[in-house]
Amino acid sequence: MPRPLKELLKDIIGEKAARAVGAFDLIGDIAVIRIPEELRAHSEIIGKTLMKINKNVKSVWAQIGPVEGDFRIRELVHIAGEKRSETIYKENGCIFKVDVTKVFFTPRLSQERKRIADLVSDNETVFNMFAGVGTFSIVIAKKKFAVVHSSEINPHAYNYMVENISLNKLKGMVIPYLNDAAEVAEKLEGKADRVLMPLPEKAIEYYKYAIKTLKNHGFVHIYLHISYPKGSNENDALIKGSDLIPTGKVIYYRVVRQVGPRTVQAVYDVEINKDL
Ligand SMILES: C[S@@+](CC[C@H](N)C(=O)[O-])C[C@H]1O[C@@H](n2cnc3c(N)ncnc32)[C@H](O)[C@@H]1O
Repeated sequence: MPRPLKELLKDIIGEKAARAVGAFDLIGDIAVIRIPEELRAHSEIIGKTLMKINKNVKSVWAQIGPVEGDFRIRELVHIAGEKRSETIYKENGCIFKVDVTKVFFTPRLSQERKRIADLVSDNETVFNMFAGVGTFSIVIAKKKFAVVHSSEINPHAYNYMVENISLNKLKGMVIPYLNDAAEVAEKLEGKADRVLMPLPEKAIEYYKYAIKTLKNHGFVHIYLHISYPKGSNENDALIKGSDLIPTGKVIYYRVVRQVGPRTVQAVYDVEINKDL
């Protein structure tokens, strides 16, 4: 069993520095690692050490800034291996081509994508408002006989989504739009059984558009960032988070992933009954 990265790094850059090296994501044969500013001088050796213990990794990039902007992209610099940012990532029986420098992408939502796909019934019409390279949409359409309308405003992400639909043989099942979700909502008024809102920064603002696209009865899966003060209880914060959701009945919620100190990304499954 190979020693974990931080263990190996202890002998090379010292125990304190090794402890400060952040977590890394494996996306196909590319690794993306968080390296604090004060350790940037060690980037190359950290990247090479990571490649030594993960033989499948061919290229390592360091994340040097937060995920930001409308396209939710993070600033990356190449630190070891091939200088290549495009790769093929496999998950839930699907394949995704992505460029880690040009689009938002995280493997940390794979369980959540499976959970949502399991909730979808055959013959549903789904609207994924913030589709990225098509991750949620493709996992759903691969598992269920459902049409997934998928809007995205980053042209790079949209182009990868189009290619990924072909790679997964889902033409006609995942319908891509290079448009703002609010515009696509106009076209889908009253047509959807389920809406996905995987963008916490815009979810509350766009909630009214999600509701507009739903039939009389349907579901919204809304993703929010929930922060809580030191010493307070995460579950209390999650319950309070449901108060942010303008309409509908929250039927389930859970933490999807940690996104910062005392800040989590949570999903709320909301049932909408327009007749009530
Ligand atoms: C957090 S990412 C989620 C991507 C994808 N669902 C995933 O999990 O891989 C949000 C995506 O929404 C896109 N986006 C931002 N504002 C948008 C809008 N108004 N309409 C459609 N897409 C938007 C961004 O470009 C980004 O790719």
